[in-house]
Amino acid sequence: METVLRLCMADELPEGTSRGFDPMGTGRDTMFLVKRDGLHAWKNECPHWANTSMAWRKDAFLNADGTRIVCAAHGAQFDIATGVCTLGPCIGQTLKRVSLIDLDDGAVAVAREELETNT
Ligand code: FES
Repeated sequence: METVLRLCMADELPEGTSRGFDPMGTGRDTMFLVKRDGLHAWKNECPHWANTSMAWRKDAFLNADGTRIVCAAHGAQFDIATGVCTLGPCIGQTLKRVSLIDLDDGAVAVAREELETNT
């Protein structure tokens, strides 16, 4: 049976912001949400280097005007909606999407099994 891990309320993030989450309790944010024309969920793993966290500080996954996801390590930029790298050392590669589950009370969640297997 699927284990659902609650993240936050769907309307909690202001437009144009991002937030990291550690739904598996690993001690670091393993995924993040971006609110821009809807909610987008991505694993916190840059395709340029395995196991590289992308935020330059807690919850800071975006460029200054909030239009692109940015990896702090070497500056790769990614389209928020598609996850495709449009600038930088891994151009054309894609972030790993995390499927969001809408809960009845307006919160969003992820399936533990997806985080475990979508590596
Ligand atoms: S690890 Fe992300 S750009 Fe190099």
